[in-house]
Amino acid sequence: MTSRFHVPQDKIPTLGQRTFLQVADQFIVLVNVEENLYAINDCCPHQGASLFSGKLEGQTIQCCAHGLKFDLATGYLNNSTHFKVTTYLVEKIDDQIFIVMD
Ligand code: FES
Repeated sequence: MTSRFHVPQDKIPTLGQRTFLQVADQFIVLVNVEENLYAINDCCPHQGASLFSGKLEGQTIQCCAHGLKFDLATGYLNNSTHFKVTTYLVEKIDDQIFIVMD
């Protein structure tokens, strides 16, 4: 079942920033890269570290624990499909931001 979570205005990250959201039992990182919003699960698929504090390089986030880098759009490990962090569709409707969750 698909559900939409309305992101409160104060949780929408500004350019180059990120915010942390809890939606039901999911912890989500919302990132603003060049005015594009990306939503990923906070849990690194390698060994479960939080990705929230990961280093941002363009559309890539680097896990602080062991340094793996993930594409924010696809969720895949850079240059590999071995690991994939869960990604969520972000929708903008009438200046409101929603995260779509399956
Ligand atoms: S837990 Fe993220 S790279 Fe190991």
